[in-house]
Amino acid sequence: MVRLTTNVVALAALLAHDATAQTGSARGSDFLRFGCSQLVVERTDPLVNPGMAPTPHMHQIVGGSSFNITMDPLTIDPPATSKCTSCKMTEDFSNYWTASIYFRSPENGTFKRVPQMANGRLNGTLLEQDGGLTIYYMRPFSGSNKKVTVMKPGFRMLTGDPTLRTKSSGPSAICHRCLSKSERIMGGNGAPCDSSDTAAFPSKPCPGGIRATVIFPSCWDGKNLDSPDHKSHVAYAPGSAALAGDKCPASHPVRIPQVMYEIMYDTSSFADPAYYKGGKQPLVYSTGDPTGYGAHGDYLFGWKDGALQRAMDALGTNCFSETCPVLKMQSGEDLIKCTKQQQVREEIGNTWLKEIPGAPMVQ
Ligand SMILES: *[C@@H]1O[C@H](CO)[C@@H](O)[C@H](O)[C@H]1NC(C)=O
Ligand SMILES: *[C@@H]1O[C@H](CO)[C@@H](O)[C@H](O)[C@H]1NC(C)=O
Ligand SMILES: *[C@@H]1O[C@H](CO)[C@@H](O)[C@H](O)[C@H]1NC(C)=O
Repeated sequence: MVRLTTNVVALAALLAHDATAQTGSARGSDFLRFGCSQLVVERTDPLVNPGMAPTPHMHQIVGGSSFNITMDPLTIDPPATSKCTSCKMTEDFSNYWTASIYFRSPENGTFKRVPQMANGRLNGTLLEQDGGLTIYYMRPFSGSNKKVTVMKPGFRMLTGDPTLRTKSSGPSAICHRCLSKSERIMGGNGAPCDSSDTAAFPSKPCPGGIRATVIFPSCWDGKNLDSPDHKSHVAYAPGSAALAGDKCPASHPVRIPQVMYEIMYDTSSFADPAYYKGGKQPLVYSTGDPTGYGAHGDYLFGWKDGALQRAMDALGTNCFSETCPVLKMQSGEDLIKCTKQQQVREEIGNTWLKEIPGAPMVQ
């Protein structure tokens, strides 16, 4: 499980000390980071199940309001079709979505959705009221070539596999951090998916919440906006570290910005040690996955004209973390106003449910 490289250690130090990042020190200049509040929580998935409503499992979705059951790149242009975005960066109409987590009561077998919570790193709950995600776009943390080429309109991808129930052999790119009470606000120190994180659900109570991380591949074939499995047009860089340097395989030569999601799940009401007796744990992904290995993330590119390339080119002392003057930003109050009605109207699990929506088998 130990996959630390020097660049990951440097990132760890950075994430641990945001104040250092604010000075624009070497590592701090290597990513853009911002919050997006909840657009909608519903059973749709325009990437894997376009046209289907409801889809088999629940997703929590942020980003441009053009999000829909079908997102045909020939008819939907997110910047043009969206009325608003729930992301801090107003030129970003991309959509980002992940699976919800449910708590299964060991007492009576009913389910409740684990709420998402704000990421305190982004300074202010308003940025992510009602959950939401923290999005990172990263350039190489190592190597001499810091340039990245932004994906093209219509680009989309999936990482992770909802059917997985054992540890995957690839890089450690999707993981869970169990937070103690004192880590609740800042989300814990250390690099994403380092040795304190697990691909599986944590095996102990997490009174400060769970910080889930989803790191996408950093290399693209440069031609296909999508692929039948939504994965093969992109690739992780060679090596075991998910956070990439400047190298890409010949099959996927284009070094794109590496996208990472951080999702904070508020497990504080589900942290009774009794739920964790005898090697059990009570959490289940909306896919019916009680292991955590099936965590996954979906991405649909929707930046306005060249805005992301402009930001990536500006990364350095003038653009880093949450500060990037070459991009336009909206206030936290404004971004949380950008929501959508469910297209599949159903109770998502704010009350106790007999079954997870879609009734996936828990196995
Ligand atoms: C979603 O798609 C439906 C059917 O094509 C359409 O009527 C609706 O306007 C779309 N919504 C948005 C926000 O684009
Ligand atoms: C099921 O158990 C949970 C606690 O685990 C409790 O809060 C809930 O009210 C119970 N529901 C029923 C119908 O008993
Ligand atoms: C956090 O937000 C508060 C209130 O908006 C502001 O006064 C403060 O300067 C911010 N701190 C940082 C580190 O951005």
